[in-house]
Amino acid sequence: MLLGTQRVNARGHLEIGGCDTLDLAREFGTPLYVMDEATIRGNCRALRAAYAKRYPTSLMLFAAKAFINMAICRIMDEEGMGLDLSSGGELYTALKAGFPLERAYLHGNNKAPWELELALDHGVGRIVLDNEREMALLQELAAARGRVQDVLLRLSPGIKPQTHSYIQTGQIDTKFGMGISTGCAMNGLRTALTMPNLRIVGLHCHIGSNIMGLDSFEMAARMMIRFAAHVRDELKLTICELDLGGGVGVRYTPDQEPPSAEDYAEAVITGLHDELAKYDLPPLLLLQEPGRSIVGEAGTTLYTIGTIKDVPGIRRYVSVDGGMSDNPRPALYEAKYSTLVANKPEAPLTQKVTIAGKHCECDNLIFDADLPDVASGDLLAVQTTGAYNYSMASNYNRFTKPAVVLVNDGQAELIAARETLDDLLSHDVIPERLQKSCAACG
Ligand SMILES: Cc1ncc(COP(=O)(O)O)c(C=O)c1O
Repeated sequence: MLLGTQRVNARGHLEIGGCDTLDLAREFGTPLYVMDEATIRGNCRALRAAYAKRYPTSLMLFAAKAFINMAICRIMDEEGMGLDLSSGGELYTALKAGFPLERAYLHGNNKAPWELELALDHGVGRIVLDNEREMALLQELAAARGRVQDVLLRLSPGIKPQTHSYIQTGQIDTKFGMGISTGCAMNGLRTALTMPNLRIVGLHCHIGSNIMGLDSFEMAARMMIRFAAHVRDELKLTICELDLGGGVGVRYTPDQEPPSAEDYAEAVITGLHDELAKYDLPPLLLLQEPGRSIVGEAGTTLYTIGTIKDVPGIRRYVSVDGGMSDNPRPALYEAKYSTLVANKPEAPLTQKVTIAGKHCECDNLIFDADLPDVASGDLLAVQTTGAYNYSMASNYNRFTKPAVVLVNDGQAELIAARETLDDLLSHDVIPERLQKSCAACG
């Protein structure tokens, strides 16, 4: 399986964005996240075009949680995307990257006062309120600033899409949002309407992540419009914006067929048009906020193969120089990945092995990977690691976070430096009383 601009070049090596992966590994070291800029930009453009031609009053946001740093914020700005930000840290990154925050939406199910203050003080366009506690908090903070803040309310429509249970988020039994069927959504709106410093502009839902079927998205669109009609009738409130979240799946393995941007838009907008007409509602601003489908297939992680261990008659473990600290998804969700040996991607596949990490856990990255003959020093490329890898990376076992390199047209540019050993120590503090017994403390 070759994705995006991946191809096998004249040297017989895996190339991404016109860059030979062996050269990338030599220059930047491994493990290394490689992000394919043309694929990221292409995905933004395909999504925006698919929605714009069917429903011109739409705005596409990038869910920054999938992969955020300052360079990606710049790309999203250039591509005319908005940003879905889920924390003060993500907001601060966008702010420092010069992203126009009027196109940003702040999410989260338990926002801290400082996060709301940061959003208010820097003109975040919309705050998506998850619950009544947040409403009261934002009302107080906005009033203290003499501001009226545009808000959306996050609802749980009661839809359980087919995906891993840890990433189902639209069912009634969830920590996110206010349930429609439980009456909490309508009550929440009533409460928000009493708050003079909040202006309710819209409704939001996000039903889950890595979803391959389109019926749940269409169902969410229909349910949310029906609820908007109910709100108009009950509260005389016009809903001007509808944010239907993200959640489209990507290709992790060759057998998977994720929906195209065109099919996604078609399903959602069919549902939307039908219900708007049925309930005689005016057009509203439609938002989507995908993360994974924008950056997932654009990312490849390069690892160097080290120890190869045979358990006779049972299994061969091929260990790489990273693992669950750079990709926790196999451990979290039993996520599956595909792989290529970057220095010989076309060599015949001769064996089934387990690709293991180097952490103090059974941090297998791929069970039953089909590989050619490999030896220590070969370069392994794990595909579709652009989403929820770098953003979920940790320093477990005091590993340093890998570098991220952006490739395009034969050019490779660092967009996140590899952490150093001293970076690992930079937040450690030895209290004075413990320094007395420390020969190394100067
Ligand atoms: C509120 C919200 N919006 C958007 C997304 C992005 O989802 P995905 O990366 O699956 O498109 C998420 C992630 O789960 C989310 O929680």
